[in-house]
Amino acid sequence: MGSTNPFNDNPPSTNKRIFQLSLYSFLPILFLCLYFNLFSLTHSPTQLLHSTSIFTYNSSISSPPPSTFNTEKNTAYDYEKSCDYSNGDWVSDMREPLYNVTTCDTIKETEKCTTNGRPDLGYLYWRWKPNECNLPRFEPNTFLKLIQNKHIAFVGDSLARNQLESLLCMLSTTSTPYLVYQNGEDKKFRRWHFPSHNVNFSLYWSPFLVHGVERSNEGQYYNTMFLDLVNERWARDIDLLDMIVISTGRWFLLPSIYYENGVVIGSLNCPEFNHTQMDFYVPLRKTLRTTLNSIVERKVAKGNGIDVIVKTFSPDHFEGDWNKGGGCSKSKPYRKEEKVVGGMEGEIRRIEIEEVENAKVKAKQFGGIRFEIMDVTKLALLRPDGHPGPYMNHFPFANGVQKYVQKDCLHWCLPGPIDTWNEIFLEVMKKWG
Ligand SMILES: *[C@@H]1O[C@H](CO)[C@@H](O)[C@H](O)[C@H]1NC(C)=O
Ligand SMILES: *[C@@H]1O[C@H](CO)[C@@H](O)[C@H](O)[C@H]1NC(C)=O
Ligand SMILES: *[C@@H]1O[C@H](CO)[C@@H](O)[C@H](O)[C@H]1NC(C)=O
Ligand SMILES: *[C@@H]1O[C@H](CO)[C@@H](O)[C@H](O)[C@H]1NC(C)=O
Repeated sequence: MGSTNPFNDNPPSTNKRIFQLSLYSFLPILFLCLYFNLFSLTHSPTQLLHSTSIFTYNSSISSPPPSTFNTEKNTAYDYEKSCDYSNGDWVSDMREPLYNVTTCDTIKETEKCTTNGRPDLGYLYWRWKPNECNLPRFEPNTFLKLIQNKHIAFVGDSLARNQLESLLCMLSTTSTPYLVYQNGEDKKFRRWHFPSHNVNFSLYWSPFLVHGVERSNEGQYYNTMFLDLVNERWARDIDLLDMIVISTGRWFLLPSIYYENGVVIGSLNCPEFNHTQMDFYVPLRKTLRTTLNSIVERKVAKGNGIDVIVKTFSPDHFEGDWNKGGGCSKSKPYRKEEKVVGGMEGEIRRIEIEEVENAKVKAKQFGGIRFEIMDVTKLALLRPDGHPGPYMNHFPFANGVQKYVQKDCLHWCLPGPIDTWNEIFLEVMKKWG
């Protein structure tokens, strides 16, 4: 099996290898550039957020997001009324996962870590313990009852797919889903139906949520994003949806050209065009705002409600150079005090939380529209052991140690730590009632 760009969700293919190798050699430089640009322009990410110049986005129903400090406090307070699941520790738990590769057939090949030959199974035996409460084990029946007669969409990047596949595996331990629709390269658009509860799940590939063209190995090396236009590939179905789970962030790290009102407003790491070089934080904020605004506007226009959950950024754990076989070799979680959410993942998370808070305020004037954040950044950050690594490939070392084996330290093994995201998802829905 060939290599896969972890940003991508394409099926591995050997003829893409050359392009990917060059991408990988570019990425470390990209990261350096990102950090350099950011921290040379402003002294700290916090200052960047506080600078007024970044809140110039204008939309008929948008208002500037509340200030960072207030938002953080409010978010923590709102969430803690039931339980703050975002901070805690991974503790040992000898219970078997609800499912395995034999009992679930919706797992992508590159995430079937055990059947791909991963020898250590310790990563399966950990449970997320929030600081002030317990996170109950996933209950498939309760989940299905809560979403009876509903259509739920997972929209965004490959981590949306990864999470939905985990959810389907857990639900299929009590009820069988039927794949009723499939389209697009690498099955990027799919729909499943659970006749038992008249529940539908849709998967929409849309890594920046807005209209645009993704970078590709065959085409341009950069993304093109239209920050003020929502991607109709999923948005045209908003009427059909009762709930949307959003996963975004990862693709913003790649070189990109940004459009607003049909004109280029800047670009990230596309030097040959002489656009204004800009970091991706402002574009990320704008795409989220465009997306959340569009959902509200369209639902209000139709007079019906919707629930929207935005999952926060999930960090990767590549060690060393991406292009020199850099992998994720740890076999145990970090303890909570070993890692703090900071730097880039902290900023992306902060923007996501702020935009959800902002949307909550707007949605208050209309009934029936609820927004919630699913804050997984810290619990994901603590799990360097939960990725496929070289075991994204089927028995990668069957013919001895290879010179170069592509590793995936971004997506999550199934079963694995991503199952916890769905335990939190269930708690959010229980809270909603
Ligand atoms: C925002 O839009 C409104 C109406 O669309 C306009 O009156 C106002 O000047 C705009 N503000 C900025 C800062 O562009
Ligand atoms: C998968 O789970 C089933 C049912 O719990 C069990 O019988 C089977 O042995 C498991 N397979 C593996 C490979 O763990
Ligand atoms: C789910 O999809 C099926 C068609 O596959 C449709 O008959 C049903 O009404 C849908 N249910 C919901 C809740 O969207
Ligand atoms: C960018 O600027 C350089 C130097 O001024 C010029 O030679 C080049 O043609 C410009 N490229 C584009 C695409 O405008």
